[in-house]
Amino acid sequence: MAIASAFKALCLSLLFVAAASHPTVRSKVFNVRRYGAKSDGKTDNANAFTNVWKSACARKSGNSKIYVPKGTFYLGGVEFVGPCKNQIEFVIDGTLMAPSNPKDIKQDTWINFRYINYLFISGSGTLDGQGKQSWPLNDCHKNTNCPKLAMTMGFAFVNNSRINGITSLNSKMGHFNFFSVHHFNITDVTITAPGDSPNTDGIKMGLCSNIHISNTQIGTGDDCIAILSGSSNLDISNVNCGPGHGISVGSLGKNKDEKDVKGLTVRDTIFNGTSDGIRIKTWESSASKIVVSNFVYENIQMINVGKPINIDQKYCPHPPCEKNGESHVQIQDLKLKNIYGTSTEKVAMNLQCSKSFPCKNVELIDINLKHNGVKGGPSTAVCENINGSARGKMVPQHCLN
Ligand SMILES: *[C@@H]1O[C@H](CO)[C@@H](O)[C@H](O)[C@H]1NC(C)=O
Ligand SMILES: *[C@@H]1O[C@H](CO)[C@@H](O)[C@H](O)[C@H]1NC(C)=O
Ligand SMILES: *[C@@H]1O[C@H](CO)[C@@H](O)[C@H](O)[C@H]1NC(C)=O
Ligand SMILES: *[C@@H]1O[C@H](CO)[C@@H](O)[C@H](O)[C@H]1NC(C)=O
Repeated sequence: MAIASAFKALCLSLLFVAAASHPTVRSKVFNVRRYGAKSDGKTDNANAFTNVWKSACARKSGNSKIYVPKGTFYLGGVEFVGPCKNQIEFVIDGTLMAPSNPKDIKQDTWINFRYINYLFISGSGTLDGQGKQSWPLNDCHKNTNCPKLAMTMGFAFVNNSRINGITSLNSKMGHFNFFSVHHFNITDVTITAPGDSPNTDGIKMGLCSNIHISNTQIGTGDDCIAILSGSSNLDISNVNCGPGHGISVGSLGKNKDEKDVKGLTVRDTIFNGTSDGIRIKTWESSASKIVVSNFVYENIQMINVGKPINIDQKYCPHPPCEKNGESHVQIQDLKLKNIYGTSTEKVAMNLQCSKSFPCKNVELIDINLKHNGVKGGPSTAVCENINGSARGKMVPQHCLN
């Protein structure tokens, strides 16, 4: 008894010492309901959310926590702009519901974050983009007067931040867009839209660096992840992609002011029922002369993927494309290791590089992709203008020099 209570006292005092030596800075909670937000699914809460943001962002002493409780909050377009005085936690447990009429969002991105450092988004909530009404209107490839459709959530000039746990459902265009974002982690996010919904990219990024994406489920109608000009040091792991168009670098080379893409790792990832798996696409007549380099693709399973490995330097989605010769994008230093599973097209490995700038130093190690399509017969590989090496298991038979 005496020993037990002495032990208890010791524990309590240790606890006290621990607590005293690590004073936790309590965040002040900003509940959106306190600012007039209504979860009736029809009141536009844009003003309430903007006011919450302003108060949370302006708070000088201690961190802020914005809280969206359970319930359905209808929200027109909102912009959350920094810089803020402190770090901001943004916890979404409810559903944010976009207008179903695309004209009711008067900006490029439905929920947009700009100029912020230390933003931590989390929660079990959902961003419901209500894209169904917009998808049939998406005809920009043939109609120059096509309606502008908003992306669901955007980050521009945001650093040292992360997003964890939330779900993005049925975006009108892309789900998450990152522009000039550095040191950002995306974990345990779920992204869902139908496989035939146009341009609903899962995660799209340009001019970004040090982005980690892991434990994330992406099923959508366009690229699961699209990596564009000027991105570097990207680490993607434990992603489940499908339906969708795979993890794409590009398209690149169309515009003059593009920048190199270097340093990408994709590992421990599954592509299931996608049109492509790992893909690099550059326009066949390109304006910019840039380099795509230092990519590692490792431990990747393909389940009934159209073209599991696809380097396409003759990209032209809506032919005819204006022909100014071959792509000027140089692809080099790629390693593809332990890539296995099934393809639905016969050409499981398409390595079509530029005649003017042949691919250099492409390393293939242990590739095992079996054809599982209706036409039958073994899988094949296509090589054009490529130099590299192969070792280990090779199905299909490789065609490197
Ligand atoms: C974000 O990081 C980039 C690259 O490190 C830097 O150039 C930029 O100034 C940073 N922005 C902010 C708001 O800290
Ligand atoms: C992102 O994850 C990396 C690796 O786990 C970690 O070192 C880094 O601190 C994280 N950054 C943020 C902003 O959470
Ligand atoms: C692949 O997708 C199919 C059809 O949606 C599903 O039944 C199956 O469980 C998925 N497999 C894996 C390993 O995710
Ligand atoms: C591959 O490398 C060899 C030796 O450097 C060179 O002669 C050949 O032209 C290269 N082929 C391509 C397609 O780059």
